[in-house]
Amino acid sequence: MAASRFEPGQVAVVTGAARGIGLGIARRLANEGLTVALLDRDGAALAEAVASLRQKDARALGVTVDLTDSAAVNQAMAEVAATAGRIDHLVNNAGAVRDMRFLKMRDEDWDLVVDTNLRSQFLCCRAVLPGMIERGHGRIVNISSRAWLGGFGQANYSAAKGGVVSLTRSLAIEFAAKGVTVNAIAPGIVDTPLFRDFAPDVQSRLQASVPVKRIGTADDIANAVVFFLDPQASYVTGQTLYVCGGRSLSSPSV
Ligand SMILES: NC(=O)c1ccc[n+]([C@@H]2O[C@H](COP(=O)([O-])OP(=O)(O)OC[C@H]3O[C@@H](n4cnc5c(N)ncnc54)[C@H](O)[C@@H]3O)[C@@H](O)[C@H]2O)c1
Repeated sequence: MAASRFEPGQVAVVTGAARGIGLGIARRLANEGLTVALLDRDGAALAEAVASLRQKDARALGVTVDLTDSAAVNQAMAEVAATAGRIDHLVNNAGAVRDMRFLKMRDEDWDLVVDTNLRSQFLCCRAVLPGMIERGHGRIVNISSRAWLGGFGQANYSAAKGGVVSLTRSLAIEFAAKGVTVNAIAPGIVDTPLFRDFAPDVQSRLQASVPVKRIGTADDIANAVVFFLDPQASYVTGQTLYVCGGRSLSSPSV
C-alpha cells in the first residue's frame, strides 16, 4: 500500500461500486489508504467486491441500497457515518443506459436513466454535505460522460449527464466557502464488460475513433478521481475533466 496523501482516518463513499469503473475507483482509493464504503443495489456483487478488497487488507464496507430512493440513501449514508465515523469524500459513480431512438423512448426509459444518473447524485450530495460542512472539508466527484455533449439514441443519458455537469457547477458555487469542492469527470469509452460484449469489428471501430488509439480503463478514471480528492487540488472546483483519450475534441457526438 502506497504512503497516503490523505489524513489518517478519512472515509470515501463510492456509489455503483460493485463492479466496473466504481469498483476500480474503490480499489484505488483503498490503496491510497482511505476507508472505502461501497454502495450498490446488487447485494451479491457488492459482497464479492468488498471481500476482494478486504483480502488485500483494505478497510472496506458495503451497503446495499437503491440510490434513487431518497429515504434509503439517507439511511445508507447515516450507516456509513455511524460505522466508519465520517464521510470526507463522495464519488457519485452509479449509472445506467437505455439507448434508443427518441421517438421510441417510453416514460420509464427516460425516468430510469435520469433517476439513476442524476437524481442519485442529488440525493447522495444532499445526504453527505451537512457532515462535510460541519467539518469544514469535503470532496465530491460526480461521474458524467463525454456523451453529455450529445449522442444519437442517447437523449435520456446525454440529458442526465449534462445535468450532472450543471449540478456539479451549482454545488461548487454554493459550497466553495464551506471547504467543499465539487468536480466532475467525463469519461469516454472505458473497457467494461459492456464494451467487451460488442462484436470485434465494432470494438475496432470504436477504438479507431479515439485519438490516442486505445480504450480507457477504470484506472484512468480512478487517477482523475484521486487528482480531485488530493489535498493539493483544493483550488480546483466546479470543473469537468474529460478522460476520453481526446475523443471529446475529434468526435463531439457518438
Ligand atoms: N463504461 C463506459 O464506457 C463509460 C463511459 C462514460 C461514462 N461512464 C459512466 O461511468 C459510471 C460507471 O460506469 P460502468 O460502465 O462501470 O457501469 P456498470 O453498469 O458496469 O456499473 C454500474 C453500477 O451501478 C449500480 N447501480 C445502477 N443503478 C443503481 C441504483 N439505482 N442503485 C444502486 N446501484 C446502482 C449497478 O448495480 C452497477 O454495479 C456510470 O456513471 C457511467 O455512466 C461509463
